[in-house]
Amino acid sequence: MEKTKDQVRLDRLLANSGYGTRSDVKALVRSGAVTVNGVPAERADMHVKLSCDKVAVDGQILDVAVHVYYMMNKPAGCVCSAKGGAHSTVFDLLSKTDRSRRLGGELSIVGRLDLDTEGLLILTTDGELNHRLTSPKHHVPKTYFVRLETEVSEAVQKQYAEAVASGVEIPPEDHEPGAVCRGGELEWESGSTCCLTIYEGLYHEVKRIFAALGNRVVYLKRIRMNKLALDPALERGGYRELSEQELSALTLTNHIL
Ligand code: URA
Repeated sequence: MEKTKDQVRLDRLLANSGYGTRSDVKALVRSGAVTVNGVPAERADMHVKLSCDKVAVDGQILDVAVHVYYMMNKPAGCVCSAKGGAHSTVFDLLSKTDRSRRLGGELSIVGRLDLDTEGLLILTTDGELNHRLTSPKHHVPKTYFVRLETEVSEAVQKQYAEAVASGVEIPPEDHEPGAVCRGGELEWESGSTCCLTIYEGLYHEVKRIFAALGNRVVYLKRIRMNKLALDPALERGGYRELSEQELSALTLTNHIL
């Protein structure tokens, strides 16, 4: 019988919680060290309910969650991928325990940021949510603070805002084809700083938009994804779990066009 998402095999739960390989955890269960709701587990392949069953090893209750959702303030200089090569990765910023909490799936990045981009990055084990937030079909708004190389007059600011609203045509870059971006919103803070909201997440989209307009992005920070704003108290490289309210703000769907 297919198990619901809330249910997981005990051996998988233990292996994902850092108790070794499947055969290590089988031996652990056989030793009687593992209890489910205070009763010694009889089989390693039994299913436990994450929402209500209390699993303990040597009396120590496991801290488990079906899915985890982290908000990170990504610093420049680290890459959004599992392997960094010459650079450190955003996964290196997580503690070992947080990296291994993968019960509902592998921990993955929701919408990558470039090496030199900072700001709001979501990491989650929830693949369905990740797909919903990043699929081009769903037009989830993402807002970036942008600093431009060349300061522009108020008249040009207006031209940029109109171009962004009607959809800027961006040329091909690297392996990516050219495209006409979906209309976005541009709000100016000064002649060289602004906040841009886009609805797709194409390759280098923000940098390509301003390059197509004849300018260059010199600093880029994601400050909002859907209705979720980056916590200003989170220092560069810091991260924490989302609260329930923040998760709702991230997943709210009434913006969908
Ligand atoms: N657009 C970019 O150009 N870079 C990013 O990192 C994110 C959006």
